[in-house]
Amino acid sequence: MEPSLPLLRLEHIDKRFGSVEALTDVSLDIPAGQVTALAGDNGAGKSVLIKCVAGIHPPDGGRILWEGHEVHIGSPRDAASLGIETVYQDLALCDNLDVVQNMFLGREREHRHLVLDEQSMETAARDTLASLAVTTVQSLRQPAGSLSGGQRQSVAIAKSVLWHSKLVIMDEPTAALGVAQTAVVLRLIRALAERGVAVIVISHNMNDVFEVADRIAVLYLGRLAAVRPVGELDRSMVVELMTAGHSDRLAEPVPELGTRV
Ligand SMILES: Nc1ncnc2c1ncn2[C@@H]1O[C@H](COP(=O)(O)OP(=O)(O)OP(=O)(O)O)[C@@H](O)[C@H]1O
Ligand SMILES: [Mg+2]
Repeated sequence: MEPSLPLLRLEHIDKRFGSVEALTDVSLDIPAGQVTALAGDNGAGKSVLIKCVAGIHPPDGGRILWEGHEVHIGSPRDAASLGIETVYQDLALCDNLDVVQNMFLGREREHRHLVLDEQSMETAARDTLASLAVTTVQSLRQPAGSLSGGQRQSVAIAKSVLWHSKLVIMDEPTAALGVAQTAVVLRLIRALAERGVAVIVISHNMNDVFEVADRIAVLYLGRLAAVRPVGELDRSMVVELMTAGHSDRLAEPVPELGTRV
């Protein structure tokens, strides 16, 4: 990969559902080792955009470049094989499986090559959680259904570390969490970025966005209103971008592809 190219580049992405233009001409770079917050009002296209990358709704137009090469992500399995992990608030784990089983779920192929037994899977799961300083999960053999919201997010993040994901996408990871659990999840998101993982976080919570993000991308009615390093924005500018699609205080228009942050 050319050093100048980001891990993921979205070029002119369009997505329609019948007469609804969910995404129009969205171009966005997602670099490794940084947290990109995706903000926008209800219906702005945030979930649709990440579903394009996660292989759930392949785009109607535009290109997706992964490590500099054009890719067609036609299914969640395609996304997983590239190293893209998507963590949804409620769908991240299977309630009836325990923590270890969840962390190895969907990786049967790698599984077979590694010939992992229950004991080594448990050890790998425990080591990964420990490496992230996740200490609140009492038993790795408890069903995921018995975990708190914050613990579920922690296990889902640990799974992406265990499988060396290159891009982790989180849709509203803290929406249902209390203050202490939110702090844990935000810390883990920072830890992922510090390991070189690219992270995309969708959030409506401006406190979370400004605490965790390196850069903020704002969608407005399916178009990219702006993407800037967090230091160039303040809360009221982001709210303006979310509600009006522009902010008079923003220094300059969105730069051309290839020159943006
Ligand atoms: N499967 C679908 N079929 C038809 N229209 C859809 C579908 N998914 C999304 N849309 C439409 O696309 C637009 C963008 O929706 P999206 O879910 O991406 O919004 P969002 O930014 O994630 O909003 P929220 O903050 O409420 O989650 C909306 O107008 C929505 O109604
Ligand atoms: Mg959404």
